[in-house]
Amino acid sequence: TSTSTSAQAQDPAPLAVQGAGSVKQQISNLAALSLRATVPEVDVEPVVEVCTTKFGDYQCNNAMGLWSKVKGSGTSFKNPNAIGQAIAKNLPTCDVIESTSVAGPGFVNISLSNSWVAKRIQDMLVNGIKTWAPVLPVKKLVLDFSSPNIAKEMHVGHLRSTIIGDTLARMFEFSNVDVLRRNHVGDWGTQFGMLIEFLFEKFPEWEELGSQAIGDLQLFYKASKEKFDNDAEFKDRAQQAVVRLQGGDEKYRSAWKKICEISRNEFDQVYKLLDVQLEEKGESFYNPYIPQVLEGLSNQGFIKESEGARVIFIEGHKIPLIVVKRDGGFNYASTDLAALWYRLNVEKAEWIIYVTDVGQQQHFDMFFKAARMAGWLPDPKEKKFPKTSHVGFGLVLGADGKRFRTRSTEVVRLGDLLDEAKSRSKSELVQRLKDNGKIVDWTEEELEKTSKAVGYGAVKYADLKNNRLTNYTFSFDQMLSDKGNTAVYLQYAHARICSIIRKSNMEVEELKMNGKISLDHPDERVLGLYLIRFAEVVEDACTNLLPNVLCEYLYNLSEMFTRFYTNCQVVGSPEEPSRLLLCEATAVVMRQCFQLLGITPVYKL
Ligand code: ARG
Repeated sequence: TSTSTSAQAQDPAPLAVQGAGSVKQQISNLAALSLRATVPEVDVEPVVEVCTTKFGDYQCNNAMGLWSKVKGSGTSFKNPNAIGQAIAKNLPTCDVIESTSVAGPGFVNISLSNSWVAKRIQDMLVNGIKTWAPVLPVKKLVLDFSSPNIAKEMHVGHLRSTIIGDTLARMFEFSNVDVLRRNHVGDWGTQFGMLIEFLFEKFPEWEELGSQAIGDLQLFYKASKEKFDNDAEFKDRAQQAVVRLQGGDEKYRSAWKKICEISRNEFDQVYKLLDVQLEEKGESFYNPYIPQVLEGLSNQGFIKESEGARVIFIEGHKIPLIVVKRDGGFNYASTDLAALWYRLNVEKAEWIIYVTDVGQQQHFDMFFKAARMAGWLPDPKEKKFPKTSHVGFGLVLGADGKRFRTRSTEVVRLGDLLDEAKSRSKSELVQRLKDNGKIVDWTEEELEKTSKAVGYGAVKYADLKNNRLTNYTFSFDQMLSDKGNTAVYLQYAHARICSIIRKSNMEVEELKMNGKISLDHPDERVLGLYLIRFAEVVEDACTNLLPNVLCEYLYNLSEMFTRFYTNCQVVGSPEEPSRLLLCEATAVVMRQCFQLLGITPVYKL
């Protein structure tokens, strides 16, 4: 809808014209056109931010940087402010911008036109929130998350990885990126020798056994480890079992498969509870690729002999990356190199993202550097893609400030945890409904469904709302509180909006088509502007791999809605049609946030 001149229309910045992408992207595209007209001799990326003052909604901050580039080069500009004035003047005339002003050293304040903001919201209501998806500079990525180890504990770290990874996947998928959700399970390694031998010993009839019969695989792992540590003869057998397994012995391979299958069933239960989709491509999958990948690296001269092992020396690291152990076996690093090679060359992913605790940072740092050395990845200064990122996260702590454990077991069983969140939220819900006499309106099924959505959502949100790098303390009381920044509070906020809409006598569906949003009241305008920031928030969360950015937005949105609702009467007011549409738009955006966070929204509470 830009009315740029024909010369500008040929510019490779058509997004502003098409109206796709976030508002920030659109303003940036307008700014890019202006910058090209203002300083044609300088090639510069537009710097557009949300305005921090009340003098505008967005601001373009290029003037100062440009000044330092052009001053002394015979430019006609006298100071950065003059550049700012020119940028403001050269912004294409269009229906997006209402007015501009220039502050101090050339900050260009941009105020959006109310009618454009209103129209954007209304278009979204008619055509769906998918039209607010940001446009990201990547088409296909691998998201490696969850990735527990077979027969070992699936600990809270894996829970964090699962929750954070799933949210990132949902945000990228919403943004039309092809996401390969990969479960890089630890299904290969020396521990299998001991597990297999133990299986043969404890369950001679193992081939006929269903996965239930073996019972708890973690206990099975513990028992076999104990035997391994205390029984030299067993240890010997276990070590030979590894050799046979890796040599492809039929019997050992099918025993290995059995053990993996049992683990897989356990993991799948958790994924089902959490509503997380994952495709398993475990470490074993990449095993056949390791020799050729290492040979390539070796031919390039990167692999050296060191104390009997084969290693890659990496700049800035004292200890080299071991890729073949002294006993000739491959390890975590060689598997990751082969997996990266596969993801780049076979799957052709442009971005490969790994979600694990920060404790593994060094490992990722090293093999990313090795890949860069080998020329698999471009110098990030030259090209943005393909690239790799490690999404690290901190610990989950218990009330005692130590690593989170439950009372009964050393490990935290995810299923139990979610169960407890659900039953706690159910008893609170039931109590509240009894207190206000509404319990009669609820069926048992509804109660169950609602407390599940609230309880599970609370666990996820408590994790996601923190900057992932910080440790956080796991507390049911906190996460299930209906006050403060919690999923429960947000569920109530959403349900309340739904009830406002239900209470009105107007038909929202009809209003979407024929009504009109106006943003005359300051609190209407603030809410409207915040609603249309949704896309850039998702863009920011994706670009920086930070789910908490979306949580913050969701929480702020509900606060802004409260302010609007307190100061602007909806039901029964002359502005009811327009305000009802703002209620609906808020509910739609909130639900989309919930969806991206993997939380099931509740419509009645
Ligand atoms: N299985 C590993 C663990 O439990 C996580 C794997 C992460 N992914 C990877 N490609 N290294 O710590």
